[in-house]
Amino acid sequence: MIKKVPVSQLCIGMYVHDLGASFLDHAFWRSRFLIHNERKLRRLRESKLEWVLIDTSRGVDLPTGGTGAVAAPAPQAAPSVAAPATKAVDDAAPPPATTEQQAFDDAKDIIDGSREQVQQLFVEADLAGKIDLRQIEGLVQDMADSIEGHPDALTSLARIKRADQYLYAHSVAVSALMTALARTLGLSDEQVHLAGMAGLLHDIGKVRDPDEAPGKLGRPVQLAQELQRKHPQSGAEVLRQDPSVPPEVIDVCLHHHERIDGTGFPDGLAGEQISLLARMAAVCNYYDDVTSTRPFKKGWDPAFALFKMLQSSGQFDMDVLGAFVRTVGRYPLGSIISLTNSELGLVVAQNPGMPELPVVKIFYSIRWSHAIPERRVNLADPDCPSRVLPVVAPVDWAQSGLPVPPII
Ligand SMILES: [Fe+2]
Repeated sequence: MIKKVPVSQLCIGMYVHDLGASFLDHAFWRSRFLIHNERKLRRLRESKLEWVLIDTSRGVDLPTGGTGAVAAPAPQAAPSVAAPATKAVDDAAPPPATTEQQAFDDAKDIIDGSREQVQQLFVEADLAGKIDLRQIEGLVQDMADSIEGHPDALTSLARIKRADQYLYAHSVAVSALMTALARTLGLSDEQVHLAGMAGLLHDIGKVRDPDEAPGKLGRPVQLAQELQRKHPQSGAEVLRQDPSVPPEVIDVCLHHHERIDGTGFPDGLAGEQISLLARMAAVCNYYDDVTSTRPFKKGWDPAFALFKMLQSSGQFDMDVLGAFVRTVGRYPLGSIISLTNSELGLVVAQNPGMPELPVVKIFYSIRWSHAIPERRVNLADPDCPSRVLPVVAPVDWAQSGLPVPPII
C-alpha cells in the first residue's frame, strides 16, 4: 500500500516510493529507495520536503495507529510473505535494522543506475568540453549512505562489470572504494564527499578512448601506451573548464598514476608531494583494475590482488594500503580462500576488527577435486575447528574457472 507520510514520522526500514517534489527541493538522486540508515533518515528530515509517499509492501509500515493518508495502490500489488511490509511496528520498539539482503539490493540499485548516469556525464563532458557536477552530487551522497549502512555491499558488487561499460563501471567502483577508504581513515564528511567525487571523475580523460586494450583494431601498442600516459592531463583539462570542480578532484585526476617512489606519471611526484586523496586513488584504482575481468584479461582474485599489492614496494603509500586492507578485509567479499583442511571457501561476510577471519561458504574439496555440499562457517567462531583456517598465501583461484556459488 502507498501511504503519504510526514517526513517527521519516517523511520529506518521504510521504503520511499515518491518524494512528491522537484529535484531542487530535495537533491536526492533516486526518487525510490530504502531508508536504510540514520544518515539517510537525517538527509530526508533536513530537506525541504514536508511529506513523502512510502510503499509498505517494500518496507516497514507506520507504527501502530499511524495510518498516514492512503494515496494509491502500490504497483507491486502482491506483497511477499517474507516482506516486513504488512507488519506494523510497536510504538515503543526501535526501528528494525535493514537486512543484509536489503543492503545488497540497495547497492545493486545504485550501481545499475549510476553507470548510465556517469556515462551520460562523461559523454557530455566530451561533447561540451565541461561538466555539470550537480548531476552526480546525489549519486556520491547515495554511495556514502550505502557504505555507511553496509560497507561491503557496494564495494563488492561494483567489482562486477560489463565489458561494454567498463570505463563507467570502473569509475563507480573506484568512487565506492574511495568513499569507504576515506571513512576508514576517519576523514571529515567533506573529505569523504571529495573522495567519492574524485573517484567518479579520475579517469574522465579516457572518455575518447575508453577501451585501452593494447593492439585494439590493429592499433600499435606504443600508441595505446601514449594515450594511457596522457589521460590524466586530458582529464584535468576537462575538469578545469568548470570552476565548480574542487581543486582536490582535479588533483586526483592528474595524479592517480603517481607512485610513492617517484617513478609514476605524469609529474614523477614522490612521497608526500602526492596528496592523500591521490595516494588513496592510486590504491583504489589499481585494486579495481587488477580484479576486473576484461575482454583481454581475467581479473585477479581479490585476496590474491591484496597479497600482491602488499608485497610490492615503491608503488603505494603503505599506510594508505594498510587502511585499504582494513576497509575491504584481508580477504574481501567474493575472494576464494584455501583452508588448511584442503577445502575452498567463498568469503561472504567480514567480522569487524578481525580481517584475517571472515565468514566463508565452503563449497569445494581440493583433495577430491569436486564440489561438496555448501556450508557456512564463521572462521572467528571460537567453536570453529582450528584446522579450518585460511592458508597464508592466497592463490589466484579466479584463474581456475571453478564454478563459484553466489555471495548472497
Ligand atoms: Fe587512470
